[in-house]
Parts: sequence; C-alpha cells; structure tokens
Amino acid sequence: MRKLVAGNWKMNGTSADLPQLNALADQHGDASVDVVICGPATLLSRMADTGLSIGGEDCHPSSSGAYTGDISAAMIADTGATYVITGHSERRTDHNEDDALIASKATAGWNAGLHVIICIGESEAQYRAGETLDILRAQMDQSIPDAATAETTTIAYEPIWAIGTGLTPTAEEISAVHAALRVHLEARFGAEGSAMRLLYGGSVKASNADEIFALANVDGALVGGASLKATDFSPIITALEASA
Ligand code: PGA
Repeated sequence: MRKLVAGNWKMNGTSADLPQLNALADQHGDASVDVVICGPATLLSRMADTGLSIGGEDCHPSSSGAYTGDISAAMIADTGATYVITGHSERRTDHNEDDALIASKATAGWNAGLHVIICIGESEAQYRAGETLDILRAQMDQSIPDAATAETTTIAYEPIWAIGTGLTPTAEEISAVHAALRVHLEARFGAEGSAMRLLYGGSVKASNADEIFALANVDGALVGGASLKATDFSPIITALEASA
C-alpha cells in the first residue's frame, strides 16, 4: 500500500495560487508517497498542468444532464484529475448529503475512472456522547458501495469537530478509531479491506504530522488549511515519507 497525503483546497484558490502547486511539484515530484491536491472545479485543468495528481472535491452522481451548476465525475476526469472526494462533512452538513447519495457519487467517480476518497466523521455532540464508533460504522456501511476495492477507494476519517478548529483527538483516540475502522473494513471487504488506505483528517499540520503518521492504520492524511501554501504542505509530505 502506498501512503497518501491529499490536500483539500475547499472554496479557495484562483490563478494567483497556482505557483504553490508548481513549488510542490518541484520539491515532491518524485515523492515516495502519493500526493494529491483536490481543488475547485474552476482550477482543475490548470492544476493538472503542474504534473501533480489532482482531484475534485465533490461530483454529481449522474454523468451528465440538466443539473445547473453541478459537475460530473466525467468532467473532473476530463480535466486530467484522477481523484475525487465524496462525503466531506461540509457537503454532508451544508448540502444535506446523506450516505446513499455519497455512495452513488462514489460509484459515479469509479465509473469515470477516478480514485474516490470517501469521508466519514462524527460531530462534537456524537463524540461527547461516546457514539463515535457507532456513527462511523453506520457511515461506512451506507456510504461505501460494495464494489469498493483498495485500488479504487480510500477512506478518510475526519472528526467534524477537528476540521479547521486546531483541535485533534489524542493519538490514543486516533489509534483506537483507526483500529476499529480497519476491523470493520476487513469484516466486509476481506483482503481489500486490509489494503484500503485509511486517512486521518482534521487540523493536520507540520507540528502534529509526525505523531499522527506514526500510528498504526493511519495511511496518510486529508489536509485542509495546511494544504493551501507549499511551505505548510511540504513538511507534511516529508513527514509521511519518513513514516512510510
Ligand atoms: P483542516 O481540514 O485540515 O483545515 O482541518 C480538513 C478537511 O476538511 O479535510
């Protein structure tokens, strides 16, 4: 399994930010881990021109049609992108996306030849109520389609309360959750579940990357804020390479 560090630019980035990617491509073009930047649809073609692996942040479940403002997985692939995120908590929360829709988006991504990063994560209230594992298992059961393989799919665990807040679970908590997720994946997918990458996401930065990447069953990270600047993202890539 090759480890993966994926950036998620969210609704950030214009032409002026493309030099950040050129800098990353120069420094990490031959990285020993997979490096992907998921960006806004408006930039994907030009992002792909940098030679880095690029992904969309979301896609529509249909391949084409009367869906004003939406972007299909085929359109994302047409830009040169090779990845797509589905089920990010900002889509689940802000756009009322449920597990069934996320599963259909994952299938759409595969049908377009994209590698799909499916996100799961509990809210702060669910965390405080001790419901984390129940919530995550239910999200995995319903938002990961049966056809998922390690080749086509990565799972990203992102506690909603850790996203953009500077808060992270303790190393022990991340370890315990990832171990439980691995058991659950293996029970359903067997050897594919053993090989499927499990990313941690939520306030990953250069200062905590080493500790997080040292944990068993953490196969990389999904990084928001710290992926926007090459100087912030580069040490995270280096930390993952050192752990691999
Ligand atoms: P963050 O975002 O790294 O800014 O916390 C992570 C994410 O939303 O994927």
